Amino acid sequence: MKVLVVYVSTHHGNTRKIAEVIAEVLQAPLKRVDEVSVGEVEDYELMGFGSGIYGGRHHKGLLGFVEKLPSCFGKKAFIFSTKGGTPTFLNHWLLRKRLLSKGFEVLGEFSCKGFDTFGPLRFIRGLNKGRPNERDLSNARVFAEGLKSKAGFFG
Ligand SMILES: Cc1cc2nc3c(=O)[nH]c(=O)nc-3n(C[C@H](O)[C@H](O)[C@H](O)COP(=O)(O)O)c2cc1C
Repeated sequence: MKVLVVYVSTHHGNTRKIAEVIAEVLQAPLKRVDEVSVGEVEDYELMGFGSGIYGGRHHKGLLGFVEKLPSCFGKKAFIFSTKGGTPTFLNHWLLRKRLLSKGFEVLGEFSCKGFDTFGPLRFIRGLNKGRPNERDLSNARVFAEGLKSKAGFFG
């Protein structure tokens, strides 16, 4: 199965760590959203989309990319993120809606906490220091393994 993992990670590189683990398990190329063209999506059957959560949603570059995609009926997707602490079902809502509207089947979603020094948080030296940690990376690995069986993945 041809898989691509697309991400944005602007704050502390937190989401990149998760994206690397998932891409490694799925043996997939890992690209920043600005490195992928809309036309390239044609080549893939399963695509992962992830970023930090900024203002309660995924990065606007990622959301904008998905908005520009052609119809993707028959393709599968998964969503991931790292966050300071707002609830995942709210954080993922908009990206999930956009993927579904393009025809993707969303196989699964993963989120964990990430180091956050946004705004006044810097005065307390940030939230979630050290996250994602080893346990988060291991949970991401388990998530990616689960995707393989859901997607009928044959290597
Ligand atoms: C501008 C900005 C807005 C943020 N908004 C939220 C938010 O609404 N909810 C939340 O849980 N975390 C929020 N965060 C924290 C980030 O989601 C968190 O630090 C994430 O791990 C960053 O990922 P990255 O290092 O891959 O960019 C925000 C961070 C920044 C810089």
